Amino acid sequence: MNSKGLKMKGISMEFPGVRALDGVDFSVEKGEVHALIGANGAGKSTLMKVLSGVYQNTAGDIFIDGEKIEIHNPMDAKNHGVVIVYQEVDTALVPHLTVAENIMMDYLIGDQKKLFIDWKMIQREAKSALKNLGLNLDVNKLVSELTLSEKQMVLIGRAVFHKAEYLILDEPTAPLSVEETNKLFEIVETVKKQGVSVIFISHRLDEIFRICERITVLRDGQLVGSYNVKTETIDSIVEKMLGRKLEATFPKHDVEIGGKLFEVRQLSGEGGVNNVNMHVNKGEIVGLSGLVGAGKTELVKLLFGATQKYEGEVVLNGKVVAPKNPAQAVKTGFALVPEERRREGILVHESIETNSTLPTLEKYCNGAFINHNQIRESAINTIKTVGVKAPNEKQLVSKLSGGNQQKVAIGKWLISDADIFMFDEPTKGVDVGSKAEIYNLIGGLVANKKGVIYATCEFSEILGLTDRVYVMYNGTIAAELVTKNTNEEELLLYSTGGGRNE
Ligand SMILES: Nc1ncnc2c1ncn2[C@@H]1O[C@H](COP(=O)(O)OP(=O)(O)OP(=O)(O)O)[C@@H](O)[C@H]1O
Ligand SMILES: [Mg+2]
Repeated sequence: MNSKGLKMKGISMEFPGVRALDGVDFSVEKGEVHALIGANGAGKSTLMKVLSGVYQNTAGDIFIDGEKIEIHNPMDAKNHGVVIVYQEVDTALVPHLTVAENIMMDYLIGDQKKLFIDWKMIQREAKSALKNLGLNLDVNKLVSELTLSEKQMVLIGRAVFHKAEYLILDEPTAPLSVEETNKLFEIVETVKKQGVSVIFISHRLDEIFRICERITVLRDGQLVGSYNVKTETIDSIVEKMLGRKLEATFPKHDVEIGGKLFEVRQLSGEGGVNNVNMHVNKGEIVGLSGLVGAGKTELVKLLFGATQKYEGEVVLNGKVVAPKNPAQAVKTGFALVPEERRREGILVHESIETNSTLPTLEKYCNGAFINHNQIRESAINTIKTVGVKAPNEKQLVSKLSGGNQQKVAIGKWLISDADIFMFDEPTKGVDVGSKAEIYNLIGGLVANKKGVIYATCEFSEILGLTDRVYVMYNGTIAAELVTKNTNEEELLLYSTGGGRNE
Protein backbone atom coordinates (compact mmCIF):
# COMPACT_ATOMS: atom_id res chain seq x y z
CA MET A 1 0.00 0.00 0.00
CA ASN A 2 1.23 3.54 -0.55
CA SER A 3 2.41 5.21 2.61
CA LYS A 4 -0.37 7.81 2.51
CA GLY A 5 -3.24 6.60 4.58
CA LEU A 6 -4.21 4.94 7.78
CA LYS A 7 -3.17 1.54 9.03
CA MET A 8 -4.25 -0.45 12.08
CA LYS A 9 -2.08 -3.41 12.98
CA GLY A 10 -2.75 -6.33 15.29
CA ILE A 11 -5.71 -4.72 17.06
CA SER A 12 -7.17 -6.78 19.91
CA MET A 13 -9.90 -5.86 22.31
CA GLU A 14 -11.59 -7.88 25.00
CA PHE A 15 -14.81 -7.34 26.92
CA PRO A 16 -15.67 -9.53 29.89
CA GLY A 17 -16.35 -12.91 28.33
CA VAL A 18 -16.06 -11.66 24.73
CA ARG A 19 -13.01 -11.39 22.53
CA ALA A 20 -14.38 -8.69 20.26
CA LEU A 21 -11.22 -8.21 18.17
CA ASP A 22 -8.38 -10.61 17.71
CA GLY A 23 -5.25 -9.24 16.05
CA VAL A 24 -7.06 -7.37 13.28
CA ASP A 25 -5.19 -5.50 10.54
CA PHE A 26 -7.05 -2.81 8.67
CA SER A 27 -5.89 -0.14 6.29
CA VAL A 28 -7.46 2.72 4.36
CA GLU A 29 -5.84 4.72 1.64
CA LYS A 30 -6.12 8.45 1.30
CA GLY A 31 -9.30 9.48 -0.50
CA GLU A 32 -10.80 6.02 -0.84
CA VAL A 33 -14.22 4.79 0.25
CA HIS A 34 -13.63 1.60 2.16
CA ALA A 35 -16.35 -0.78 3.35
CA LEU A 36 -16.08 -2.61 6.64
CA ILE A 37 -18.45 -5.54 6.75
CA GLY A 38 -19.26 -8.63 8.78
CA ALA A 39 -22.15 -10.38 10.51
CA ASN A 40 -23.76 -8.88 13.60
CA GLY A 41 -21.25 -8.94 16.42
CA ALA A 42 -18.26 -9.45 14.12
CA GLY A 43 -16.47 -6.47 15.65
CA LYS A 44 -17.00 -3.67 13.11
CA SER A 45 -18.22 -1.01 15.52
CA THR A 46 -15.63 -2.04 18.11
CA LEU A 47 -12.78 -1.67 15.60
CA MET A 48 -14.00 1.79 14.66
CA LYS A 49 -14.42 2.77 18.30
CA VAL A 50 -10.80 1.76 18.90
CA LEU A 51 -9.83 4.01 16.02
CA SER A 52 -11.85 6.90 17.38
CA GLY A 53 -10.43 6.66 20.89
CA VAL A 54 -13.43 5.26 22.75
CA TYR A 55 -11.56 2.32 24.28
CA GLN A 56 -8.29 2.42 26.17
CA ASN A 57 -7.37 -1.17 26.94
CA THR A 58 -6.57 -2.27 23.44
CA ALA A 59 -3.57 -4.00 21.94
CA GLY A 60 -2.06 -3.10 18.58
CA ASP A 61 -0.66 -0.12 16.72
CA ILE A 62 -2.09 2.63 14.55
CA PHE A 63 -0.15 4.46 11.83
CA ILE A 64 -0.99 7.49 9.74
CA ASP A 65 1.08 8.14 6.62
CA GLY A 66 3.56 5.56 7.85
CA GLU A 67 4.05 7.16 11.24
CA LYS A 68 2.94 5.49 14.45
CA ILE A 69 0.40 7.53 16.37
CA GLU A 70 -1.26 7.21 19.77
CA ILE A 71 -5.03 7.40 20.12
CA HIS A 72 -6.13 7.22 23.75
CA ASN A 73 -9.27 9.31 23.70
CA PRO A 74 -11.69 10.89 21.23
CA MET A 75 -9.73 14.17 21.31
CA ASP A 76 -6.56 12.38 20.15
CA ALA A 77 -8.55 10.84 17.33
CA LYS A 78 -9.95 14.19 16.23
CA ASN A 79 -6.51 15.75 16.34
CA HIS A 80 -5.39 13.08 13.90
CA GLY A 81 -8.35 13.81 11.66
CA VAL A 82 -10.41 10.74 12.60
CA VAL A 83 -14.11 11.49 13.09
CA ILE A 84 -16.92 8.97 13.59
CA VAL A 85 -20.65 9.38 12.96
CA TYR A 86 -22.39 6.77 15.09
CA GLN A 87 -25.54 5.03 14.06
CA GLU A 88 -27.46 6.60 16.93
CA VAL A 89 -27.03 10.16 15.71
CA ASP A 90 -29.12 11.59 18.53
CA THR A 91 -26.52 10.74 21.13
CA ALA A 92 -24.04 13.10 19.49
CA LEU A 93 -26.30 16.13 19.08
CA VAL A 94 -27.85 18.64 21.45
CA PRO A 95 -31.50 18.87 20.35
CA HIS A 96 -32.31 22.32 21.74
CA LEU A 97 -29.33 23.99 20.08
CA THR A 98 -29.30 25.17 16.49
CA VAL A 99 -27.70 23.47 13.53
CA ALA A 100 -24.89 26.07 13.59
CA GLU A 101 -24.24 25.57 17.30
CA ASN A 102 -24.14 21.82 16.90
CA ILE A 103 -21.72 21.99 14.01
CA MET A 104 -19.50 24.36 15.98
CA MET A 105 -19.91 22.49 19.25
CA ASP A 106 -16.22 21.96 19.86
CA TYR A 107 -15.53 25.63 19.37
CA LEU A 108 -18.25 26.46 21.89
CA ILE A 109 -17.10 24.02 24.54
CA GLY A 110 -13.44 24.07 23.49
CA ASP A 111 -10.71 23.99 26.06
CA GLN A 112 -9.51 27.55 25.70
CA LYS A 113 -11.60 29.81 27.90
CA LYS A 114 -13.24 32.33 25.65
CA LEU A 115 -14.41 35.73 26.83
CA PHE A 116 -16.55 36.35 23.80
CA ILE A 117 -18.35 34.04 21.51
CA ASP A 118 -18.40 35.25 17.96
CA TRP A 119 -21.93 34.18 16.97
CA LYS A 120 -21.63 35.68 13.51
CA MET A 121 -18.54 33.59 12.91
CA ILE A 122 -20.33 30.46 14.16
CA GLN A 123 -23.11 30.95 11.68
CA ARG A 124 -20.74 31.77 8.87
CA GLU A 125 -18.48 28.77 9.46
CA ALA A 126 -21.40 26.38 9.89
CA LYS A 127 -22.96 27.63 6.69
CA SER A 128 -19.74 27.20 4.80
CA ALA A 129 -19.22 23.66 6.18
CA LEU A 130 -22.66 22.70 4.87
CA LYS A 131 -22.16 24.50 1.59
CA ASN A 132 -18.97 22.56 1.13
CA LEU A 133 -21.12 19.44 1.13
CA GLY A 134 -23.58 20.94 -1.33
CA LEU A 135 -26.27 21.28 1.34
CA ASN A 136 -28.53 24.14 2.13
CA LEU A 137 -29.87 23.43 5.55
CA ASP A 138 -31.05 26.40 7.61
CA VAL A 139 -28.31 26.81 10.24
CA ASN A 140 -30.69 28.59 12.60
CA LYS A 141 -33.07 25.66 12.85
CA LEU A 142 -33.13 23.69 16.09
CA VAL A 143 -31.71 20.20 15.77
CA SER A 144 -34.82 18.81 17.44
CA GLU A 145 -36.79 19.90 14.37
CA LEU A 146 -34.62 18.00 11.91
CA THR A 147 -35.25 14.67 10.25
CA LEU A 148 -32.88 11.83 10.93
CA SER A 149 -31.05 12.30 7.67
CA GLU A 150 -30.63 16.02 8.29
CA LYS A 151 -29.15 15.20 11.69
CA GLN A 152 -26.64 12.95 9.98
CA MET A 153 -25.78 15.82 7.67
CA VAL A 154 -25.15 18.07 10.67
CA LEU A 155 -22.75 15.47 12.04
CA ILE A 156 -20.97 15.15 8.72
CA GLY A 157 -20.89 18.95 8.51
CA ARG A 158 -19.25 19.00 11.90
CA ALA A 159 -16.70 16.46 10.74
CA VAL A 160 -15.91 18.53 7.66
CA PHE A 161 -15.49 21.63 9.77
CA HIS A 162 -12.97 19.66 11.80
CA LYS A 163 -11.08 18.96 8.63
CA ALA A 164 -11.70 15.26 9.08
CA GLU A 165 -9.36 13.17 6.98
CA TYR A 166 -10.89 9.87 7.97
CA LEU A 167 -14.65 9.89 8.22
CA ILE A 168 -16.27 6.80 9.72
CA LEU A 169 -19.96 6.19 8.96
CA ASP A 170 -21.36 3.34 11.08
CA GLU A 171 -24.51 2.04 9.36
CA PRO A 172 -25.61 5.47 8.21
CA THR A 173 -28.19 4.31 5.71
CA ALA A 174 -30.20 1.86 7.82
CA PRO A 175 -32.95 4.35 8.65
CA LEU A 176 -32.82 6.42 5.47
CA SER A 177 -35.22 6.54 2.54
CA VAL A 178 -33.95 5.94 -0.97
CA GLU A 179 -33.66 9.67 -1.73
CA GLU A 180 -31.94 10.37 1.57
CA THR A 181 -29.48 7.58 0.89
CA ASN A 182 -28.74 9.03 -2.54
CA LYS A 183 -28.14 12.42 -0.97
CA LEU A 184 -25.75 10.85 1.54
CA PHE A 185 -23.85 9.14 -1.24
CA GLU A 186 -23.49 12.47 -3.05
CA ILE A 187 -21.96 13.87 0.12
CA VAL A 188 -19.60 10.91 0.35
CA GLU A 189 -18.58 11.59 -3.26
CA THR A 190 -17.98 15.27 -2.44
CA VAL A 191 -15.79 14.67 0.61
CA LYS A 192 -13.89 11.97 -1.25
CA LYS A 193 -13.03 14.49 -3.96
CA GLN A 194 -11.67 16.70 -1.21
CA GLY A 195 -9.26 13.91 -0.30
CA VAL A 196 -11.15 12.53 2.70
CA SER A 197 -11.12 8.77 3.26
CA VAL A 198 -14.49 7.31 4.18
CA ILE A 199 -14.95 4.10 6.14
CA PHE A 200 -18.45 2.84 5.48
CA ILE A 201 -20.25 0.18 7.52
CA SER A 202 -23.48 -1.25 6.11
CA HIS A 203 -25.44 -4.49 5.90
CA ARG A 204 -26.79 -3.45 2.50
CA LEU A 205 -24.28 -5.05 0.24
CA ASP A 206 -25.60 -3.46 -2.95
CA GLU A 207 -24.72 -0.05 -1.50
CA ILE A 208 -21.22 -1.20 -0.83
CA PHE A 209 -20.75 -2.23 -4.40
CA ARG A 210 -22.11 1.15 -5.48
CA ILE A 211 -19.85 3.46 -3.54
CA CYS A 212 -16.84 1.58 -2.20
CA GLU A 213 -13.52 0.70 -3.77
CA ARG A 214 -12.31 -1.86 -1.27
CA ILE A 215 -13.98 -4.10 1.26
CA THR A 216 -12.59 -5.44 4.51
CA VAL A 217 -14.43 -8.42 5.96
CA LEU A 218 -14.44 -9.36 9.64
CA ARG A 219 -15.74 -12.59 11.11
CA ASP A 220 -15.94 -13.35 14.84
CA GLY A 221 -13.46 -10.62 15.69
CA GLN A 222 -10.92 -11.74 13.12
CA LEU A 223 -9.87 -10.37 9.79
CA VAL A 224 -11.00 -12.51 6.86
CA GLY A 225 -9.33 -10.25 4.30
CA SER A 226 -9.46 -7.04 2.29
CA TYR A 227 -10.69 -7.15 -1.29
CA ASN A 228 -11.15 -4.99 -4.32
CA VAL A 229 -14.86 -4.65 -5.22
CA LYS A 230 -14.00 -5.24 -8.87
CA THR A 231 -12.88 -8.80 -8.19
CA GLU A 232 -15.81 -9.70 -5.92
CA THR A 233 -19.55 -10.28 -6.15
CA ILE A 234 -22.24 -9.98 -3.50
CA ASP A 235 -22.29 -13.78 -3.22
CA SER A 236 -18.54 -14.11 -2.81
CA ILE A 237 -18.51 -11.45 -0.10
CA VAL A 238 -21.46 -13.02 1.75
CA GLU A 239 -19.61 -16.30 1.80
CA LYS A 240 -16.54 -14.63 3.29
CA MET A 241 -18.70 -12.90 5.88
CA LEU A 242 -20.61 -15.93 7.03
CA GLY A 243 -17.96 -18.56 6.41
CA ARG A 244 -20.55 -20.49 4.40
CA LYS A 245 -22.74 -20.08 1.35
CA LEU A 246 -26.11 -18.52 1.95
CA GLU A 247 -28.56 -21.13 0.69
CA ALA A 248 -31.59 -18.96 0.09
CA THR A 249 -32.41 -15.48 1.28
CA PHE A 250 -36.10 -16.27 1.42
CA PRO A 251 -36.59 -19.82 2.63
CA LYS A 252 -39.82 -21.19 1.19
CA HIS A 253 -42.49 -22.52 3.49
CA ASP A 254 -45.47 -24.17 1.88
CA VAL A 255 -48.35 -22.98 3.96
CA GLU A 256 -52.00 -23.39 3.17
CA ILE A 257 -53.83 -20.15 3.68
CA GLY A 258 -56.96 -20.45 5.79
CA GLY A 259 -59.97 -18.31 6.62
CA LYS A 260 -60.13 -14.71 7.71
CA LEU A 261 -58.28 -14.05 10.97
CA PHE A 262 -58.13 -10.32 11.18
CA GLU A 263 -59.88 -7.38 9.59
CA VAL A 264 -59.65 -3.62 9.75
CA ARG A 265 -62.59 -1.56 8.53
CA GLN A 266 -62.41 2.13 7.73
CA LEU A 267 -59.74 2.80 10.29
CA SER A 268 -58.63 6.39 10.75
CA GLY A 269 -56.62 7.86 13.57
CA GLU A 270 -53.48 9.41 14.89
CA GLY A 271 -50.45 9.91 12.69
CA GLY A 272 -52.47 10.50 9.54
CA VAL A 273 -53.92 6.99 9.22
CA ASN A 274 -56.83 7.54 6.89
CA ASN A 275 -59.66 5.14 6.08
CA VAL A 276 -57.65 1.93 6.03
CA ASN A 277 -59.37 -1.32 5.02
CA MET A 278 -57.39 -4.51 5.16
CA HIS A 279 -57.51 -8.12 6.26
CA VAL A 280 -55.19 -11.00 7.10
CA ASN A 281 -56.03 -14.68 6.70
CA LYS A 282 -54.76 -17.54 8.85
CA GLY A 283 -51.32 -18.60 7.70
CA GLU A 284 -50.84 -15.53 5.56
CA ILE A 285 -47.95 -13.07 5.43
CA VAL A 286 -49.34 -9.72 4.41
CA GLY A 287 -46.90 -7.02 3.40
CA LEU A 288 -47.32 -3.34 4.15
CA SER A 289 -45.31 -1.63 1.47
CA GLY A 290 -44.67 2.04 0.86
CA LEU A 291 -41.95 4.64 1.18
CA VAL A 292 -40.52 5.96 4.41
CA GLY A 293 -43.26 8.17 5.87
CA ALA A 294 -46.19 6.54 4.04
CA GLY A 295 -47.89 5.70 7.34
CA LYS A 296 -46.91 2.05 7.86
CA THR A 297 -45.46 2.63 11.32
CA GLU A 298 -48.43 4.76 12.33
CA LEU A 299 -50.87 2.07 11.19
CA VAL A 300 -49.25 -0.80 13.09
CA LYS A 301 -48.91 1.38 16.17
CA LEU A 302 -52.57 2.24 15.97
CA LEU A 303 -53.44 -1.45 15.75
CA PHE A 304 -51.22 -2.09 18.75
CA GLY A 305 -53.27 0.27 20.91
CA ALA A 306 -50.88 3.19 20.95
CA THR A 307 -53.77 5.59 21.00
CA GLN A 308 -57.41 5.57 21.97
CA LYS A 309 -58.33 8.15 19.41
CA TYR A 310 -59.44 6.33 16.32
CA GLU A 311 -62.46 5.66 14.21
CA GLY A 312 -63.34 2.42 12.52
CA GLU A 313 -63.42 -1.21 13.47
CA VAL A 314 -60.80 -3.82 14.25
CA VAL A 315 -61.95 -7.44 14.18
CA LEU A 316 -59.88 -10.38 15.40
CA ASN A 317 -61.18 -13.95 15.21
CA GLY A 318 -64.65 -12.65 14.38
CA LYS A 319 -64.83 -10.38 17.41
CA VAL A 320 -64.61 -6.62 17.45
CA VAL A 321 -61.60 -5.69 19.55
CA ALA A 322 -60.49 -2.28 20.71
CA PRO A 323 -57.11 -2.39 22.37
CA LYS A 324 -56.72 0.80 24.35
CA ASN A 325 -53.05 0.33 25.13
CA PRO A 326 -50.21 -2.02 24.19
CA ALA A 327 -50.69 -4.20 27.29
CA GLN A 328 -54.30 -4.81 26.29
CA ALA A 329 -53.27 -5.39 22.70
CA VAL A 330 -50.94 -8.18 23.85
CA LYS A 331 -53.76 -9.78 25.85
CA THR A 332 -56.06 -9.50 22.85
CA GLY A 333 -53.59 -11.38 20.68
CA PHE A 334 -51.33 -8.82 19.02
CA ALA A 335 -47.55 -8.70 18.96
CA LEU A 336 -45.53 -5.82 17.52
CA VAL A 337 -41.82 -5.66 16.82
CA PRO A 338 -41.49 -1.89 16.55
CA GLU A 339 -39.23 0.04 14.25
CA GLU A 340 -37.37 2.14 16.78
CA ARG A 341 -36.03 -0.68 18.84
CA ARG A 342 -33.88 1.40 21.18
CA ARG A 343 -36.75 3.65 22.11
CA GLU A 344 -39.64 1.20 22.18
CA GLY A 345 -38.58 -2.33 21.46
CA ILE A 346 -36.22 -3.16 24.27
CA LEU A 347 -34.94 -2.06 27.65
CA VAL A 348 -31.26 -1.64 26.83
CA HIS A 349 -30.16 -1.48 30.45
CA GLU A 350 -31.73 -4.82 31.27
CA SER A 351 -30.45 -8.30 30.49
CA ILE A 352 -31.35 -10.43 27.49
CA GLU A 353 -33.26 -12.67 29.88
CA THR A 354 -35.44 -9.88 31.25
CA ASN A 355 -36.06 -8.47 27.81
CA SER A 356 -36.95 -11.71 26.16
CA THR A 357 -39.41 -12.89 28.79
CA LEU A 358 -41.02 -9.62 29.83
CA PRO A 359 -43.92 -9.55 27.36
CA THR A 360 -44.86 -13.08 28.29
CA LEU A 361 -44.04 -12.95 31.99
CA GLU A 362 -47.44 -14.29 32.98
CA LYS A 363 -46.49 -17.63 31.48
CA TYR A 364 -43.84 -18.08 34.14
CA CYS A 365 -45.94 -17.09 37.10
CA ASN A 366 -47.98 -19.29 39.33
CA GLY A 367 -49.87 -17.00 41.65
CA ALA A 368 -47.21 -14.91 43.34
CA PHE A 369 -44.39 -17.28 42.36
CA ILE A 370 -42.16 -16.69 39.44
CA ASN A 371 -40.45 -19.71 37.97
CA HIS A 372 -36.95 -18.39 37.42
CA ASN A 373 -35.61 -21.61 35.97
CA GLN A 374 -38.27 -21.57 33.33
CA ILE A 375 -37.51 -17.94 32.54
CA ARG A 376 -33.86 -18.78 32.13
CA GLU A 377 -34.57 -21.73 29.88
CA SER A 378 -36.91 -19.73 27.75
CA ALA A 379 -34.34 -16.92 27.40
CA ILE A 380 -31.65 -19.41 26.40
CA ASN A 381 -34.04 -20.82 23.87
CA THR A 382 -34.73 -17.38 22.40
CA ILE A 383 -31.00 -16.68 22.14
CA LYS A 384 -30.67 -19.90 20.19
CA THR A 385 -33.65 -19.49 17.87
CA VAL A 386 -32.83 -15.96 16.75
CA GLY A 387 -29.06 -16.49 17.00
CA VAL A 388 -28.13 -13.74 19.45
CA LYS A 389 -24.38 -13.46 19.86
CA ALA A 390 -23.74 -13.06 23.59
CA PRO A 391 -21.71 -14.80 26.31
CA ASN A 392 -24.90 -15.72 28.22
CA GLU A 393 -28.51 -14.75 28.92
CA LYS A 394 -27.54 -12.38 31.74
CA GLN A 395 -25.68 -10.03 29.37
CA LEU A 396 -27.07 -6.49 29.34
CA VAL A 397 -28.65 -5.62 26.03
CA SER A 398 -26.69 -2.32 25.98
CA LYS A 399 -23.55 -4.42 25.57
CA LEU A 400 -24.73 -6.26 22.49
CA SER A 401 -23.89 -5.19 18.97
CA GLY A 402 -26.58 -3.20 17.14
CA GLY A 403 -27.90 -6.12 15.12
CA ASN A 404 -28.00 -8.41 18.12
CA GLN A 405 -30.12 -5.90 20.01
CA GLN A 406 -32.55 -6.08 17.12
CA LYS A 407 -32.64 -9.85 17.36
CA VAL A 408 -33.56 -9.64 21.06
CA ALA A 409 -36.40 -7.26 20.14
CA ILE A 410 -37.69 -9.84 17.68
CA GLY A 411 -37.05 -12.90 19.80
CA LYS A 412 -39.07 -11.69 22.73
CA TRP A 413 -42.23 -11.66 20.66
CA LEU A 414 -41.73 -14.92 18.87
CA ILE A 415 -42.39 -16.83 22.07
CA SER A 416 -45.65 -15.04 22.76
CA ASP A 417 -48.79 -16.77 21.60
CA ALA A 418 -50.28 -13.91 19.72
CA ASP A 419 -52.59 -14.44 16.74
CA ILE A 420 -51.36 -11.49 14.73
CA PHE A 421 -47.67 -10.72 14.57
CA MET A 422 -46.75 -7.30 13.28
CA PHE A 423 -43.19 -6.53 12.22
CA ASP A 424 -42.09 -3.00 11.43
CA GLU A 425 -38.83 -2.97 9.45
CA PRO A 426 -37.46 -5.82 11.55
CA THR A 427 -34.31 -6.48 9.55
CA LYS A 428 -32.85 -3.00 9.70
CA GLY A 429 -29.22 -3.37 10.74
CA VAL A 430 -29.42 -7.16 10.65
CA ASP A 431 -26.80 -9.08 8.66
CA VAL A 432 -27.76 -11.13 5.60
CA GLY A 433 -27.38 -14.48 7.33
CA SER A 434 -29.58 -13.49 10.26
CA LYS A 435 -32.11 -11.93 7.91
CA ALA A 436 -32.66 -15.33 6.34
CA GLU A 437 -33.11 -16.78 9.83
CA ILE A 438 -35.70 -14.16 10.70
CA TYR A 439 -37.64 -14.86 7.48
CA ASN A 440 -37.48 -18.50 8.39
CA LEU A 441 -38.93 -17.85 11.85
CA ILE A 442 -41.73 -15.81 10.30
CA GLY A 443 -42.42 -18.75 8.00
CA GLY A 444 -42.71 -20.89 11.13
CA LEU A 445 -45.33 -18.55 12.59
CA VAL A 446 -47.62 -18.79 9.60
CA ALA A 447 -47.13 -22.55 9.44
CA ASN A 448 -48.82 -22.47 12.86
CA LYS A 449 -51.79 -20.62 11.37
CA LYS A 450 -50.82 -17.26 12.75
CA GLY A 451 -51.21 -14.10 10.71
CA VAL A 452 -48.31 -11.79 9.94
CA ILE A 453 -48.27 -8.14 8.94
CA TYR A 454 -44.86 -7.23 7.63
CA ALA A 455 -44.15 -3.51 7.14
CA THR A 456 -41.09 -2.61 5.11
CA CYS A 457 -39.88 -0.10 2.58
CA GLU A 458 -37.65 -2.72 0.97
CA PHE A 459 -39.45 -4.01 -2.09
CA SER A 460 -37.22 -7.07 -2.22
CA GLU A 461 -38.59 -8.21 1.14
CA ILE A 462 -42.17 -7.66 0.03
CA LEU A 463 -41.60 -9.69 -3.12
CA GLY A 464 -39.59 -12.44 -1.44
CA LEU A 465 -41.55 -12.96 1.73
CA THR A 466 -45.21 -12.02 1.49
CA ASP A 467 -48.34 -13.61 0.02
CA ARG A 468 -50.30 -10.43 -0.49
CA VAL A 469 -49.43 -6.77 -0.15
CA TYR A 470 -51.07 -3.48 0.70
CA VAL A 471 -49.22 -0.47 -0.64
CA MET A 472 -49.57 2.60 1.56
CA TYR A 473 -49.43 6.16 0.37
CA ASN A 474 -50.23 9.20 2.45
CA GLY A 475 -51.73 7.26 5.36
CA THR A 476 -54.07 5.15 3.29
CA ILE A 477 -54.03 1.97 1.22
CA ALA A 478 -53.25 2.89 -2.38
CA ALA A 479 -53.36 -0.66 -3.72
CA GLU A 480 -53.90 -4.28 -2.75
CA LEU A 481 -51.82 -6.72 -4.79
CA VAL A 482 -51.15 -10.43 -4.92
CA THR A 483 -47.41 -10.73 -4.47
CA LYS A 484 -46.77 -13.31 -7.15
CA ASN A 485 -48.52 -11.13 -9.72
CA THR A 486 -46.65 -7.93 -8.99
CA ASN A 487 -43.14 -6.53 -9.29
CA GLU A 488 -40.87 -3.76 -8.11
CA GLU A 489 -42.07 -1.30 -10.75
CA GLU A 490 -45.70 -1.70 -9.75
CA LEU A 491 -44.87 -1.36 -6.04
CA LEU A 492 -42.93 1.81 -6.77
CA LEU A 493 -45.74 3.20 -8.90
CA TYR A 494 -48.33 2.87 -6.13
CA SER A 495 -45.86 3.90 -3.42
CA THR A 496 -45.30 7.21 -5.12
CA GLY A 497 -48.96 7.99 -5.52
CA GLY A 498 -49.28 6.92 -9.13
CA GLY A 499 -51.51 4.40 -10.85
CA ARG A 500 -54.78 5.38 -9.29
CA ASN A 501 -57.63 5.94 -11.63
CA GLU A 502 -59.95 8.02 -9.50
N1 LIG B 1 -19.55 -2.56 25.77
C1 LIG B 1 -19.50 -3.86 25.53
N2 LIG B 1 -19.44 -4.76 26.53
C2 LIG B 1 -19.39 -6.09 26.29
N3 LIG B 1 -19.38 -6.65 25.06
C3 LIG B 1 -19.44 -5.80 24.01
C4 LIG B 1 -19.51 -4.38 24.19
N4 LIG B 1 -19.55 -3.80 22.97
C5 LIG B 1 -19.53 -4.81 22.06
N5 LIG B 1 -19.45 -6.02 22.69
C6 LIG B 1 -19.38 -7.33 22.03
O1 LIG B 1 -18.30 -7.33 21.12
C7 LIG B 1 -18.64 -8.03 19.92
C8 LIG B 1 -18.47 -7.13 18.73
O2 LIG B 1 -19.48 -6.13 18.76
P1 LIG B 1 -19.60 -4.97 17.68
O3 LIG B 1 -20.58 -3.98 18.24
O4 LIG B 1 -18.25 -4.47 17.33
O5 LIG B 1 -20.25 -5.76 16.45
P2 LIG B 1 -20.66 -5.23 15.00
O6 LIG B 1 -19.82 -5.93 14.01
O7 LIG B 1 -20.64 -3.75 14.99
O8 LIG B 1 -22.15 -5.80 14.85
P3 LIG B 1 -23.53 -5.14 14.26
O9 LIG B 1 -23.55 -5.43 12.81
O10 LIG B 1 -24.60 -5.92 14.95
O11 LIG B 1 -23.55 -3.69 14.61
C9 LIG B 1 -20.06 -8.53 20.13
O12 LIG B 1 -20.03 -9.86 20.56
C10 LIG B 1 -20.60 -7.62 21.21
O13 LIG B 1 -21.59 -8.28 21.97
MG1 LIG C 1 -22.17 -2.23 14.90
